[in-house]
Amino acid sequence: PQSLRIAVIPGDGIGEEVMPLGLRCLKAAAAKFGLALELTEFEFASCDYYLKHGDMMPEDWHSTLSAYDAIYFGAVGMPDIVPDHVSLWGSLLKFRRDFDQYISLRPCRLLPGIPSPLSNPGDIDFWVVRENTEGEYSSIGGKIFEGTEREVVIQETVMTRIGVDRVLNYALNLARSRPKKHLTSATKSNGISITMPYWDERLKALSAERGYDDLKIDKFHIDIFTAWIVLNPSQFDVVVGSNLFGDILSDLGPACTGTIGVAPSGNINPEGKFPSLFEPVHGSAPDICGKGIANPVGMIWAGQMMLQHFGFKDAAGAMMRAIEDVLAEGASHIITPDMGGSTGTTESLGAAIERKILGGAGTP
Ligand code: NAD
Ligand code: IPM
Ligand code: MN
Repeated sequence: PQSLRIAVIPGDGIGEEVMPLGLRCLKAAAAKFGLALELTEFEFASCDYYLKHGDMMPEDWHSTLSAYDAIYFGAVGMPDIVPDHVSLWGSLLKFRRDFDQYISLRPCRLLPGIPSPLSNPGDIDFWVVRENTEGEYSSIGGKIFEGTEREVVIQETVMTRIGVDRVLNYALNLARSRPKKHLTSATKSNGISITMPYWDERLKALSAERGYDDLKIDKFHIDIFTAWIVLNPSQFDVVVGSNLFGDILSDLGPACTGTIGVAPSGNINPEGKFPSLFEPVHGSAPDICGKGIANPVGMIWAGQMMLQHFGFKDAAGAMMRAIEDVLAEGASHIITPDMGGSTGTTESLGAAIERKILGGAGTP
């Protein structure tokens, strides 16, 4: 379509601060390239909504959001007021599961102008493909003998053949589309002795069955994997992992590129049966909320991924170039403090990217 219907959910904390800049950049790209974006904002899926209504979302959330092509999402969580598992299982994790967004796609790239905390980062440019609906994030388990000395708490890891195969196939295909054609899988098969070896077996079977001889495929245990991300991140191209391992790698990777504030993600239902959801990787950041200094790049880049997902290549390309150009200029009164800026704010950085998209000068 030349038009997209987008459900906009700012959520909590800095989600509400970065969303307006994300929307301004999306609108700028739409205006420049003649796309019709219909943006409808919802206040549910936030802790404020929970405090008013006793639930994170209205009962009909599924049918309401199903009417949209995609969801553009900020962040959820007010951990001092609503327990995180209540707010997240009542919103974001429900979307991922009930909309079968089984791929979490998270690019990790060292952008020009942003200092890495690593002394020798090299050219960091990899994609994390995270399983997004099962694995360690399961609701199977419980407590017995609660409140006694014999208390037992169990939460099962669930891996289904369909679930494992579809994320591995997605990652194999993504690796094939990239120049380096290199896939690395994260497991922990020495210690977690049932589910993790199963993941390894499925990777071996799928890569053999489907003839991926043109790819370089390797695997690491997650512990040394995290070490390699710090010691030599430029060796990675496409990285695939379970729900929990993908979660960890997708904060660690972006931290090595300077700040998690720039990292975006797509929660994708590849069949398009349900809306996909695009969001920054970061959370609601209560520690900086209200200061106006949250980095808006993760939010803006997530919008870029959304346009790319729907095939709007020119608009997506312009958004990415605008982000890169403004960061490369690196004016300290424009970029936010997490990237070394001095007086830069959410507004100054987002507005500079917006101006670039429209074809103007980014840094005044
Ligand atoms: P967080 O990502 O919110 O913050 C971690 C650290 O990174 C903080 O110091 C924060 O200030 C900094 N940071 C994050 N985003 C930034 C940005 N855009 N610019 C500059 N600095 C940034 O993670 P947390 O502290 O573990 O979680 C806080 C709350 O957010 C919790 O309720 C958590 O459950 C929730 N959370 C939500 C999501 C989501 O909605 N997708 C993701 C992660 C955490
Ligand atoms: C993320 C977040 C979520 C996750 C939390 C908030 C449940 O950390 O999107 O990376 O663990 O998936
Ligand atoms: Mn995370």
